[in-house]
Amino acid sequence: MQVALRKALRARATNDPLALRRQPRHVLTQRGARLSERGPRHHRHRHNAVTLAAMRAGEHWNKRYAQGFEPFAGAPASWLVAHRELLTGGGRALDVACGTGRNARYLAELGYIVDAIDVSDVAIDALRDAVTERGLEVTPRIVDLEHEPLPPGPYDVIVVMNFLQRDLFDALQDALAPGGLIVYETLGQAHVNELGRSFDPAYLLEDGELLRALNRLEVVDHFEGVTDRSGGPRGVGAIVARRVPDTR
Ligand SMILES: C[S@@+](CC[C@H](N)C(=O)[O-])C[C@H]1O[C@@H](n2cnc3c(N)ncnc32)[C@H](O)[C@@H]1O
Repeated sequence: MQVALRKALRARATNDPLALRRQPRHVLTQRGARLSERGPRHHRHRHNAVTLAAMRAGEHWNKRYAQGFEPFAGAPASWLVAHRELLTGGGRALDVACGTGRNARYLAELGYIVDAIDVSDVAIDALRDAVTERGLEVTPRIVDLEHEPLPPGPYDVIVVMNFLQRDLFDALQDALAPGGLIVYETLGQAHVNELGRSFDPAYLLEDGELLRALNRLEVVDHFEGVTDRSGGPRGVGAIVARRVPDTR
């Protein structure tokens, strides 16, 4: 992972689009097209615009990952592991805003074929190296969810950990296969009200929000409050919910 982080960091250090053009294809693209590819002029421009917008959106996270940020020391999320008995493997899974892919790797180890998406090309590069080395069935892809759609699925499992983009709730439900599960946890009101931490409300769940937002699904488990997570107590909202066949 460290090699990938260093390579991507060197590319970022120049902050020069021309220098970035010379970097390997996976650093440069979101949809697999090379910036340097010859093709119709408007296509090249469209790719450039989309790719450069995503680079700007990912800059904040790239810096964090380049500085060694590794959520929860790379261990899979406790909320996901706690529901291990529901994860029967043998299907398709999606890890949304996967970071360096601790949950994507866990799902692949359980037998899922996993798509893992994140805006940070530094994180995606690190994940790509890790899964190549370990032969895991994970396809990492750079996606800026503020500008690009969620992959349509259908997925048997969707994991969202420590990420909140409210306009995705409908697409998340649509992307589930019948019987498919979503496993979601992110910071909630308890983080501020009970633990006294400060956090941007734009990224903090309201009380009951996951229940309301995922209301086309059948709730399997739900939690709101302060819980122990590796690294200390966190105030979270968490849900496991299933798509039943008539919810689309
Ligand atoms: C706190 S980290 C959580 C990473 C991972 N889910 C985990 O729990 O290990 C938040 C992640 O959201 C990603 N992210 C932020 N904005 C995004 C966007 N617009 N599209 C896709 N990913 C985004 C960041 O790059 C970062 O990896």
